[in-house]
Amino acid sequence: MSRILITSAIPYINGIKHLGNLVGSQLPADLFARYNRARGHEVMFICATDEHGTPAELAAAKAGKPVAEFCAEMHAVQAQIADGFRLSFDHFGRSSSPQNHKLTQHFAGRLKAAGLIEEVSEKQVYSNADGRFLPDRYIEGICPNCGYDKARGDQCENCTKQLDPTDLIEPRSAISGSTDLEVRETKHLYLRQSALKDELDKWIDTKTDWPVLTTSIAKKWLHDGDGLQDRGITRDLDWGVPVKDGENDWPGMEGKVFYVWFDAPIEYIAATKEWADKTGGDWERWWRTDKGADDVRYIQFMGKDNVPFHTLSFPATIKGSGEPWKLVDYIKSFNYLNYDGGQFSTSQGRGIFQDQALEILPADYWRWWLLSHAPESNDSEFTWENFQAGVNKDLADVLGNFVSRITKFCRSKFGEAVPEAGDYGSAELALIAELETRIQAYVAQMEAMEVRKAATELRAIWVAGNEYLQSAAPWSTFKEDEAKAAAQVRLGLNLVRLYAVLSAPFIPDASAKMLSAMNTLDTDWPDDVSAALSALSGGHEFAVPDVLFAKISDEDRESWQDRFAGTRD
Ligand code: MF3
Ligand code: ZN
Repeated sequence: MSRILITSAIPYINGIKHLGNLVGSQLPADLFARYNRARGHEVMFICATDEHGTPAELAAAKAGKPVAEFCAEMHAVQAQIADGFRLSFDHFGRSSSPQNHKLTQHFAGRLKAAGLIEEVSEKQVYSNADGRFLPDRYIEGICPNCGYDKARGDQCENCTKQLDPTDLIEPRSAISGSTDLEVRETKHLYLRQSALKDELDKWIDTKTDWPVLTTSIAKKWLHDGDGLQDRGITRDLDWGVPVKDGENDWPGMEGKVFYVWFDAPIEYIAATKEWADKTGGDWERWWRTDKGADDVRYIQFMGKDNVPFHTLSFPATIKGSGEPWKLVDYIKSFNYLNYDGGQFSTSQGRGIFQDQALEILPADYWRWWLLSHAPESNDSEFTWENFQAGVNKDLADVLGNFVSRITKFCRSKFGEAVPEAGDYGSAELALIAELETRIQAYVAQMEAMEVRKAATELRAIWVAGNEYLQSAAPWSTFKEDEAKAAAQVRLGLNLVRLYAVLSAPFIPDASAKMLSAMNTLDTDWPDDVSAALSALSGGHEFAVPDVLFAKISDEDRESWQDRFAGTRD
């Protein structure tokens, strides 16, 4: 048994997220957390809402609410949606928590003491129409890198380049649209990432097992152009963590807050402290290598636009502090999921939002389809046809049908108890051998966090059972050899339990239904397939479950296609 720390990129508080956000971080992180718990490891799975910065302020202004109130409400909404998708966080924190304020100020103080903070008098965009500075998302314009015309002051959504507001071409205020902008002087803190460049570079070089998507992005930021840039970590905003040097004031920085991307990843640690403060648990054994965390394996999940911050900026904070904090061991990153020929976009209201998805279908349908189409090696695309086909074939025709056929057949011929008679013969032994190989392959893909490949293996495991049932045909056997049919049915019923255990990380609700129908609490991982397929012995009572997965009809598909064709405002 080992200890595994898992964090998912923390979603911005500014609104309900779409399915692309889910599949790019939280959902695969949940898959991995559930899998590792099922394997008996001790897991700490952390997520939170990312509540500071311009996205929060702008969204609160749009909603006409004070920002603190807006964030509290949206956190509750996001927590409920996470619950709806069965995301099994050990804690879902808030980056605006007192714990994060304190820890963020602590890190800043340590970085200052290490000489890694520079005070810079810099030029910032000031909007005359709005009477304020326009940091980050308060400003929009054309990306100097790719030409995208809705690039924001902090990052271009299209090409992922990190930007400064003054980089934008034809800049305009995101508040008023005004182009009456001027550049004024203001003082800010910079994290001297360049001083840590070699150390970070060497560290990334040791990560030979990381996905190419992760390391290639890190290397690009380390070496392109002038190399790793120092990064402004403060902003002229009201809402955020006030700039302090540990617990002391920071002369000259009154009224300023830390940049959202400085405090957000620190929230991974602070959220674990939130968890500890709530439960009485010990957060340091997950995060301090001097308190036992060197035994922890730490894995982060995120979309590709988050990779620079996790491979470089956050490690710069951690390393620069000179304190024994746990560094990430593995970064699993994802490409984008597109929607029907375009991009999902929160800001433009395009695609299916998480609350809408749960309104029309249960979580497992989405979990299965999204995970089995996770954008790993490439961007992938959601289309309604593809979604319908995946759900109907994999879930309804293969898994659902298997469970329904075997349980109903048993009820009709033997009653609702596992039949006793007969022994497993060569067909059963062949199936067991096949399952041994396939389960090993499934485990290997899960361990490697190859999400799509793991889904493919799981599907093959379901198909193997279906094919067995089709060729064993207990409904025919029953006419000549009742004992043989009984053994076939016993195997089939045991397969239902086995499938529930193996499938739970992907489809936890269906898995729970299967276990409860099989009237068992035995969720042991099938290390020994033969033993696992004898877990339910003769006489064990069960019940025929309700339909596990309803098929998506063409009418449903068409009506959803229409409903989600437009944009949500
Ligand atoms: N809120 C960011 C996003 O949705 C992710 C922040 S991840 C963390 O893209 F590292 F900052 F925590
Ligand atoms: Zn761009």
